[in-house]
Amino acid sequence: MTANAAARRADRLLGFYVDKSRDLPWRSPPGGAGLDPYRVWLSEIMLQQTTVATVVPRFARFVERWPTLAALAGASDEEVLGEWAGLGYYARARNLIACARQVAAAGGFPRTAAELRKLPGLGAYTSAAIAAIAFAEDVAPIDTNVSRVIARLHAIANPAADQIERHFRDLAPTGRSGDVAQALMDVGATICRPRNPRCEDCPMVDGCLARASGTPEMFPTPKARSERPQRFGIAWWIERDGHVWLVRRPPRGLLGGMAALPGANWCDEQPEAACVMASVRHIFTHFALDLAICPAEAPMGEGWWHPLEAIGEAGLPTLYRRAVSQVLEARAASNPLRLDPA
Ligand code: ADE
Repeated sequence: MTANAAARRADRLLGFYVDKSRDLPWRSPPGGAGLDPYRVWLSEIMLQQTTVATVVPRFARFVERWPTLAALAGASDEEVLGEWAGLGYYARARNLIACARQVAAAGGFPRTAAELRKLPGLGAYTSAAIAAIAFAEDVAPIDTNVSRVIARLHAIANPAADQIERHFRDLAPTGRSGDVAQALMDVGATICRPRNPRCEDCPMVDGCLARASGTPEMFPTPKARSERPQRFGIAWWIERDGHVWLVRRPPRGLLGGMAALPGANWCDEQPEAACVMASVRHIFTHFALDLAICPAEAPMGEGWWHPLEAIGEAGLPTLYRRAVSQVLEARAASNPLRLDPA
């Protein structure tokens, strides 16, 4: 592609960004004026592994509760983990707290991807995204949407990271990497989708080599889905006077630091469970979990009695929120006239 053709492509993409991009609460007008790095950082952390549709309302709640980095740095671990409940990937929330405190103590965010990368929770993509979007650094934030769109423009079946990065740099005019990246994210999410791309609506359809091939969805080569291993667990339901016994999970590992029903470690074999009140199947990234919820008498481990009528405010992650609702639903079905949760 000639330099002129590349410049025209960039113009059309940036024109699309101005006129048709998604109106998202962490963005500011194209060009980046008035962007708050705190909001850019927070949105990028939330958007790691979570969809835009899920993040939008959660981002709004979060910035209403902690409008500034200083406010967030002053919050307790439990408050932040509780606000994160339901978003999954809780290591993100633990890193978020550590990062907020470190950046607040340093007096603000560093302005380059290389410096941002040293902060907790910031990998290559996230540090490049913040540097490009909030500080207009000419770096290449490549996420899966950006990578797919670029792979299709150049009909690359098995793209290497440095190849995609080179094409991104060729496309982005100086100082506009943040807008180009976000425009490509929008094109990838709404037009150049993994399946059924809507090429007729794409601002870069002219000169797109995947489109010219007649089978744009074959770029990059679609991956076969791998099977998820199955794991099993038991959670204990311990209830007294309208309260249920909750514990905090160990600080590291899956759901680390989150509120939970007590239970043993999850394992690969289905355990014997005498009296199952309800069960939940939950899909984590690397395995599926079948959790049986069984009654027990005495409180286990360090924990607290949480009122069932306020269970929504316990900060339970989705797995345990679903477990609690399954128990309450099973009980309501077997005892339809009883209205109180006790
Ligand atoms: N995914 C990651 N960062 C994003 C952004 N800034 N806009 C839309 N989707 C994104």
